[in-house]
Amino acid sequence: MSEKQIFQPNPEFSKSANIGSMDEYNALQNRAINDYEGFWGDFAKEKLDWIEPFTNVLDESEAPFVKWFDGGKLNVSAQCIDRHLDTRKNKAAIIFEGDRGDVETITYLELYRNVNRFANLLKEDFGVKKGDRVVIYMPMIPEAAYAMLACARIGAIHSIVFGGFSSAALKDRIEDADAKVVITADGAFRKSKPYMLKPVVDAALEGDTPVEKVLVVERNNEDVTWKEGRDYSYHELIKSKSSECEAEVMDSEDPLFLLYTSGSTGKPKGVQHNSAGYILWAQMTMEWVFDVKENDTFWCTADVGWITGHTYIVYGPLAMGATTLMFEGVITYPDAGRPWAMVEKHRINQFYTAPTAIRVLHKMGEDEPKKYDLSSLKVLGTVGEPIDPPAWGWYYEEVGNSKCAIVDTYWQTETGGHVISPLPGATPIKPGCATLPVPGIIAEILDPITGEKSEVGETGYMCISKPWPAQIRSVWGDKERYVKSYFGDVKKDGKAVYFTGDGARYDEDGYITITGRTDDVINVSGHRMGTAEVEAVINEDENVAEVAVVGKPHGLKGECIFAYIVLKSDDHITDTAEEVKAINNIIKQEIGTIAMCDHIVFVPGLPKTRSGKIMRRILRAIAKGEEITQDISTLEDPAIVAKIESMVEC
Ligand code: WTA
Repeated sequence: MSEKQIFQPNPEFSKSANIGSMDEYNALQNRAINDYEGFWGDFAKEKLDWIEPFTNVLDESEAPFVKWFDGGKLNVSAQCIDRHLDTRKNKAAIIFEGDRGDVETITYLELYRNVNRFANLLKEDFGVKKGDRVVIYMPMIPEAAYAMLACARIGAIHSIVFGGFSSAALKDRIEDADAKVVITADGAFRKSKPYMLKPVVDAALEGDTPVEKVLVVERNNEDVTWKEGRDYSYHELIKSKSSECEAEVMDSEDPLFLLYTSGSTGKPKGVQHNSAGYILWAQMTMEWVFDVKENDTFWCTADVGWITGHTYIVYGPLAMGATTLMFEGVITYPDAGRPWAMVEKHRINQFYTAPTAIRVLHKMGEDEPKKYDLSSLKVLGTVGEPIDPPAWGWYYEEVGNSKCAIVDTYWQTETGGHVISPLPGATPIKPGCATLPVPGIIAEILDPITGEKSEVGETGYMCISKPWPAQIRSVWGDKERYVKSYFGDVKKDGKAVYFTGDGARYDEDGYITITGRTDDVINVSGHRMGTAEVEAVINEDENVAEVAVVGKPHGLKGECIFAYIVLKSDDHITDTAEEVKAINNIIKQEIGTIAMCDHIVFVPGLPKTRSGKIMRRILRAIAKGEEITQDISTLEDPAIVAKIESMVEC
């Protein structure tokens, strides 16, 4: 497989696709270019159920703080549930498969009742009101979705923290959002064994905390400690709750959720998404990019703790009235045939996962797809990092039987939904290429200095030059950081445009290939880690004088973390392996195992300019084993480079 190969959409599929040709794609995109507000206004009217209609499509008067569909009133949980009750009340909304193969199907009517009970519990027992922040620290079980939708129903703002984060990371996020409630579970099952979450919550709430109440969903029924007056059993409280709960009337621009993500500097930022624009785009991309039809079953393997799980396990599929599969387990357990066995069992039509998972499944079970009936599959998706052509080839040929479109969807926590992606019935695809903007998104690769569109083959900055409905609205509690992080780097025609942080280039067909982050963000197995965040944690080790963290390409994870550490004094450190362990332990405690370093090298110094700036480019090259082409004579101590190189080699 090479990036030069091109694969046409399956003509049979195109016939009934929502967008079935490039002519249709171009017509939509031209409409957006020529009549931006008309395009979005019409779709917002058609796709959403409004309690009160909006009066204005887009208000840019305080850009980059924008308002979409101002004046409109709606409720996101009602978009996802209530409006389907007339036509789909007995349709499966969520199919849950547990780690041990247990299956539960929740219809739209059941979802309605479960969410309403949950919402009543939050209101009546915990006093949660519109605008309150609720942290959700949950495994992949249906109650995680109920919790999200229950918050949306009563206008509370949820902030999900991925279950792999440590108590310290959870504590930071709870405090930053000033959350009064945490929803968690005792734990869940992974590889047939119980694992725990509640103890992590207990540790996060030690000392001062804004949290008043903790709701614990019993999943694995292991023993947990209870704090009287703070901790409550979900199963106890839910019994007495009414299954009717009126949906709070929300403004289009009322916040729906926060989701913390890493940036190149400082601590993680709380990306804020608001109601109408987000849910509109979540739904439209389900219809356009995954081409989900009424009887389809859609499976996204992400965790609800990441944006992919928010938009494509819960909000997008439910907003369009689809059936979404939720999976508690690990895709390589009991063996690398698990996902294909599940595709066969549930007759999955669209399967959406990350390149890192594809590489692992390929490596561990190259021939596994052949053992199962995968004929139900129509669309295969990837997200999270660039996909290498060999992984793409295996996915296309072995999983998709050379019949399914691969949608390489490029987007971010901040974009809310897809922004660059093929459309399965329209776009000819190329391995490893995200192709073209999704209709309505004015995404361009710009030269950071001139603000002009980049030339073919030249790497520029991936920008979005017009606001879009699902865009981040602010960084929670830090408006300035929002402006600085996203609107500070690139200007087009004198106007600041949204910069994603990624580099990209056009090919001769105008297709976009994402080349990766241009900032100090590392993408480990599709998870974003800020180098500054990891460095701050390593610096907590009392033996560490200085540290620089960079990304190093990794066969399965995409990138892994490589740390160069200068010790204060190595006199008393007799066992460097122990010190490496100690450092990784701190990272595990402060962030979580996902941020642990694959490589830690103790070096006598770091390459710095005379003004003291660490030259990470040199460190990246050394980590990759590349030759250093950069002039090093201007460094404070040019000899340090050769010293580090010799240490990394051995
Ligand atoms: C990267 C995940 C190449 C990119 C939805 C982006 C990708 C970051 C792709 C966002 C893709 C995501 N091709 N790179 N198809 N999709 N990325 O916020 O660097 O967890 O900025 O959102 O992942 O990661 P986030």
